[in-house]
Parts: sequence; C-alpha cells; structure tokens
Amino acid sequence: MSINRRSLFMAAGAAAGSLMVGRQAAAAEAAPAFKAPTKDNPIIISFNENPLGMSAKARQAVADAAAKASRYPFARVEKLRRALADYVDGKPENILLSHGSAESIRAGIEAYAAPGVQLVIPELTYGDGEDVAKRNNIRVTKCPMLPDWQIDIGAMKKAVADWYGPSIVYFVNPNNPTSTVVDSKELFAWIRSKPQNTMFIIDEAYAEFVEDPKFESCAKLVAEGLDNVVVLKTFSKIFAMAGMRVGYAYAQPAVIKMMRDHVAYDIMMNACSIEAALAEVTDQAFIEKSRSENAKARKILNDVLDELKIHHLPSQTNFVFADLKAPLKPFAQHMRDEHIWVGRPFPPAVQWCRISLGTPAEMTYFANKLREFRAKGWV
Ligand SMILES: Cc1ncc(COP(=O)(O)O)c(C=O)c1O
Repeated sequence: MSINRRSLFMAAGAAAGSLMVGRQAAAAEAAPAFKAPTKDNPIIISFNENPLGMSAKARQAVADAAAKASRYPFARVEKLRRALADYVDGKPENILLSHGSAESIRAGIEAYAAPGVQLVIPELTYGDGEDVAKRNNIRVTKCPMLPDWQIDIGAMKKAVADWYGPSIVYFVNPNNPTSTVVDSKELFAWIRSKPQNTMFIIDEAYAEFVEDPKFESCAKLVAEGLDNVVVLKTFSKIFAMAGMRVGYAYAQPAVIKMMRDHVAYDIMMNACSIEAALAEVTDQAFIEKSRSENAKARKILNDVLDELKIHHLPSQTNFVFADLKAPLKPFAQHMRDEHIWVGRPFPPAVQWCRISLGTPAEMTYFANKLREFRAKGWV
C-alpha cells in the first residue's frame, strides 16, 4: 500500500472510529435500557455510584484524550485546576487535585498528623478517615450520636475541647451512610470560632445532591479566608466518574501546600480522567439530569419503604439508610440471590441497610422485590 493510500485508509478508519464513538456516546446519553438482573449483570446498589454513566461528552473526550495520551498532560491539568476554581468560586492556588477524594482524605489527615494528634469523628460515618488514622497510628475518638444517627456537634466539640493535644475533625456532610445533613449554622459557628490546634476536613462528596436549605457548603468558609478548614470534593458521585479517580481539595494556599506533600503528584494526573472531568464540570444539563434521575429513583424507594413501614432517614444524597430492625446479613443474602447487591454492614448500625440509588427502572424492580420479601416475611 502506498503511503498516500495507507494514510487515506487510516484517516477513513479514524473517521469511522470517531463516528462510532460519537454514536456510542449518543446512546450513552439516553438512560441505559433496563434488563432484569442476572448473575453476570446484577443491579449494583451498594457503592453509591451514579447509574447514568459518564456523559456523552465525557466519553468522547476520553476517546480523544486516549489518542494523545503518549504526552504528559501538564497544561490540561492546569486547565482543570482553573475550571475547578471557577466551580467552587475560588482561585487555582486554592485547588489540590487528587486521585479520587480518597487521596485527599489521606493527604489531609497525614498533613496535620502532629505529635499527640487525635482524629475526631462521629460514631457512624464514612470509614476512610478512621482507616487512614489507624495506618498512621493516630488515636481515633468516636463521638456518640443523637437518635436516628444524627451527628451531635456538641459531642464532637467536647471531644476537641477535652483533648490536651491537636485535633483533626473529619466531618462528612451529607454524612455517609446516614444520607443526612447537619444544620450548617452550627458547623459554621464552630469552625469560625477557630478552636485551638484544630483542623477541619470537610468531606462534601455528596453535596451536589442536597435539597435541604439548612445545608450550605463549607466552601464559603474557605472563601472567607479561614485556614483551619479544607473542603473535599469528588467526581465519583454526581459526575458519574467513580472509575476515573478524580477528586480535589479546596482550601487556603497554605493548607494546599501542606497537603501537596502527601499526594502522588498533583501536576500529573491521568490524561483521560482530566478530559472527562473538564467535559463534565461545566455541563449543567448533565448535572441536572443526574440530580433529577436521582430524585425520581429516591422517590420510588422512599415510597415503597413508607408503604411497607420500613423506617428510613431523610436522604439528601444518592442513597437511603433504612432500619430493617433485624440483622442485615440474611436480607442482603436474599437480595444477592436475586442478583441485587445492597450495601455492606456499617457497625454499629448493623440492623440498617444502605441502599444506593440505581436508575428509576432499577428502583422499581427493587421495590417489587421488597414487596415479595415482605410477603415471604423476609423484611
Ligand atoms: C463520604 C465519601 N467520601 C469519599 C469517598 C471516596 O470517593 P472517591 O475516592 O471515589 O472520590 C466516598 C466514596 O463512597 C464517600 O462516600
């Protein structure tokens, strides 16, 4: 084949390829067609993922980035940093990129792990903070909660005030696995009071789903100039990019500088992930769609739980925490047998089940299974 014919052939192939990607992308924009679950294709409502999948634009951006991935993406990383600064209303020097927010949680705790430090958390919250503390031999103080697993800010304040050394407060708002928010006024007042030697790591992985007006993002406190707080965000939830591993921290530059020593390399992230994040961060239509599909799915789940009189907490997220009033394990196994994966046990709430929201069609299927389970006396 002559060079010219070869390049023509390759160009035609590339054009056909990008057309294909375009078509696949267009198909991806429509809600995935529902199929009854099987062993190989279960309904996965266990990890608080976004069932819509990435946006069509993000999939296209990933395909395009793959073609250029032999190059380091320095400039694109900085473009993403600027886009994230715009998203939170800050400046690029306020942003630290990380591989998922998991890396930011670790970096935040390790950066403030001074001698004698304690990590203060509610008794029931996302486990990463505690895991990082244990790996670093940091003492963990778990604070008792109010009825229905409400976070007791008073108890957390007391734990900080009673400790002779420095404290790191890891505060997940909305909380996981409870799906609830705290009244931001109380939290803001505590952070603004600047308790001595205390750093607040505020994990807002689910903030974009919140409808409750009592919630306000702690990003506002960073904008006020407070340097005792860092806000962690992720592309894994509303943006449907859990597998792409993009998260970030928003804080004053001095805080970002401390944390940067504890991430792999925030000037060099995965090229495809950067492009996907850039494609979605300003895509209001996709964000709105994620939100509205989530709200539809949540209504289906809330309605069946109400119908069956299964107590559940008011969800502000993409999951619901329901009180089975019986051990979770047998219920979860019965669901597994139906090829539905629900959340793992979250001690000490071992009789509660965290149900992540799938698509509305998946939740309708799940709701019917719950009704069947009730008829069999399994729930
Ligand atoms: C509260 C909270 N923070 C952080 C994470 C970690 O998410 P990622 O590392 O994918 O950003 C999760 C994951 O479920 C979470 O629930």
